[in-house]
Amino acid sequence: MSHSATAPAPTTEPPKPNGLEGVVAASTELSHVFGEEGRLVYRGYDIHELAGKASFEEVAHLLWVGTLPNRAELADLKEKFGANRILPDAVIDGLRALPENANPMDALRTGVSLVGAVETGLFDDEPDLDEAIALAARFPAILATFFRLRQGKEPVPGRADLNTAQNYLYQLFGTEPEERHWKPLETYLVLLMDHGLNASTFTARVIASTDSDLSSALTGAVGALKGPAHGGAPAKVLDMLNAIGTVDNVDAWLTNALDTGERLMGFGHRVYKAEDPRAEILRGMAETASTPEFFALSKTTEDRALALLDERKPGRRLYTNVEFYSAAVLAAVGLPGDMFPPTFAVARAVGWSAHVLEQVAHNRLIRPQSEYIGVTDKTFTPIADR
Ligand code: COA
Repeated sequence: MSHSATAPAPTTEPPKPNGLEGVVAASTELSHVFGEEGRLVYRGYDIHELAGKASFEEVAHLLWVGTLPNRAELADLKEKFGANRILPDAVIDGLRALPENANPMDALRTGVSLVGAVETGLFDDEPDLDEAIALAARFPAILATFFRLRQGKEPVPGRADLNTAQNYLYQLFGTEPEERHWKPLETYLVLLMDHGLNASTFTARVIASTDSDLSSALTGAVGALKGPAHGGAPAKVLDMLNAIGTVDNVDAWLTNALDTGERLMGFGHRVYKAEDPRAEILRGMAETASTPEFFALSKTTEDRALALLDERKPGRRLYTNVEFYSAAVLAAVGLPGDMFPPTFAVARAVGWSAHVLEQVAHNRLIRPQSEYIGVTDKTFTPIADR
């Protein structure tokens, strides 16, 4: 964007923004990213302890309540999820009013906001566990509803007897999913559920710190997740792999992209300076779930990208991030590329709401300072003299 001709120049050259890198802005017991070691921990459990072993609902309970559930607690949580998969007509009508080419992240953000506006009795109080469950259960319902409406199909009501991963696919495609599809999706959702104080989680905590409601906090979080520097990347990874097309074209394509200053999607991370542990797990899942051709294309692209980034950006420690193999896993599950970012949000809705609950339990308004670098001694000139 160009500045207007009369915009005053700053009095001091602004320092290069550090994006709050390394700044501790909250205390949390929920999760931590050990960036140097390439480790991710949820409430004391290394992610390898949970991925592929614990269900979506078990890990949601872990994050929200603090412990893995016993059988009665798990049954209770599943029942509550099941009871909260129905959207009010006003929300469905709102999604129906969107153009079919709307970005699904915009549809999700709108749907979450609508839920807050329509279901006022549910989301007006101080956020609590029941609200967190209710809103997290509505995320897949909102997305599946929009996904079907944009194809001219009617929404499929959620089913209480299915788990979250099964039900999401059921509401999207209208048939009960096979285990080879819902299981990898469930592991993906567990892997993406929380991740320290990332940009969207920080957004949710800032909104919650003003004593706002849960729907507002998560609406803002969806907006923050949409950008390609955060959750918007996996759709772009698929675009990149489709543009590369064949294993033979990998080198030329990547070289050209870096020559023209492009960023390679699915590589680099603000906190990880080693391989993202989620990328390692997803790589293994992608190998099983995707076609041999697609996996070969992904793996060759990864290998060459890492070599080229090391050559072109020495010392920056750029590794494969979670988004790279998410693309192959979600494509194998049957999702189109533009549904990848909001599917990430289905998982993160649990982490966001857990952070909101933690924030309100020990709240203090989050209100940082800015460094003023403008002038202070101007006098007013009436419009006739300007
Ligand atoms: N491709 C090419 N170069 C990259 C890169 C990528 N994916 N990621 C970082 N770099 C380079 C930057 O150009 C910069 O180079 P410079 O020092 O010569 O200026 C250096 O590495 C540091 O990057 P910086 O922008 O300071 O890192 P960051 O912490 O602000 O950014 C990301 C982190 C994730 C935004 C960044 O790595 C990125 O844009 N990745 C691609 C998008 C993506 O995969 N997003 C999903 C994140 S989970």
